[in-house]
Amino acid sequence: MLQSRFLLSGLGLSLMIATLSAQAAGLTSEHKAFGKTNDGTPVEQYILRNSHGVQATVITYGATLQSLQIPDKNGKVADVVLGFDDVQGYQSGTAYFGATIGRFGNRLANGAFELDGKRYQVPQNDKTNSLHGGTQGFDKRVWSAEPTKAKDSVGVTLTYLSADGEMGFPGNLKTEVTYSLNENNELRIEYKASTDKPTVLNLTNHSYFNLAGAGNGDVLKQVATLHASHYTPVDVKLIPTGELPAVAGTPMDFTKPTAIGKNIKADHQQLKYAEEKQGGFDFNWVLDAKGDVSKLAADVSDPQSGRRLQLYTSEPGVQFYTGNFLDGTVKGKGGKVYPHWGAFTLETQHYPDSPNQKNFPSTRLDPGQTYTQTALFKFSAK
Ligand code: BGC
Repeated sequence: MLQSRFLLSGLGLSLMIATLSAQAAGLTSEHKAFGKTNDGTPVEQYILRNSHGVQATVITYGATLQSLQIPDKNGKVADVVLGFDDVQGYQSGTAYFGATIGRFGNRLANGAFELDGKRYQVPQNDKTNSLHGGTQGFDKRVWSAEPTKAKDSVGVTLTYLSADGEMGFPGNLKTEVTYSLNENNELRIEYKASTDKPTVLNLTNHSYFNLAGAGNGDVLKQVATLHASHYTPVDVKLIPTGELPAVAGTPMDFTKPTAIGKNIKADHQQLKYAEEKQGGFDFNWVLDAKGDVSKLAADVSDPQSGRRLQLYTSEPGVQFYTGNFLDGTVKGKGGKVYPHWGAFTLETQHYPDSPNQKNFPSTRLDPGQTYTQTALFKFSAK
């Protein structure tokens, strides 16, 4: 009896030691070549892994989340973000798959804004608007990268220096983006930036998620909750009107878990502005958490695979876009095509066109200030 108790506790102890060392050894990272841009600049990939089968790959082209492997309720892993297998895909791509967006996420009306009485003109790469930082935004730049390690996470920090006047924006701007992964299946993206002249800034990550796996049909049956009771409606050019109406009674009401496809085809002017033929969501939701990163901002799950994504953010808004401009013509990773509504984005951000909208929170950054932002994507399955 005494002996068997001794044996048991010995077994328990060795099991505990095995688990602890598995946990310590569970977080790993490696980096290696990913390819070269057309002008021969090397692009690297950083692969972050935890002991639960989660694996995030970040490439230095566009500081892009290139792949994200997430287990389903049976432990079967799938890549849940859209993207390409090579640098050329990203270089010629126009959908911003997984990229870091800068200097200014989403649209600026007429590609212009004023700061201290001076007018700045930036590229009009979306009809008369500027979209996602212009023709050669942060998504089209090769960033420097360094691996990082903390007590409970592994990561990579990417840095990019944007020169004064680049894409028409004032100030030499230093931007740092850190991706890190921990054993709680949390992928954290932290941003930092500083400038030497007053400027405007709105950074985000443009990952397209499909919790059933990228290229595995559309996301209409996936169920979304957006903790946002207001949104910023747009005009025909997708520029905010400046109003902040309630979502209640409109297809934009995701305050309770709602299948993405439930109202996507509703006869509503906003959905038609988002995409005139078939409609879709492409709006900025005003988060109830108001930049409190400890409060849940969005929650999306896939009933079939059981995968779930929960988003926390320090930003006041999120662009929920349902891939309305995907049309099945682009070949992504593994030769898969991405259909219309084949993904959703959750772009944590300040509201679109903020520099031209006096009632929106400011996107101004002055010398001596540090811009910071945190976005936390937590994954689980059941
Ligand atoms: C915008 C869409 C745009 C897409 C680019 C989203 O952030 O809101 O209108 O088409 O990015 O792929």
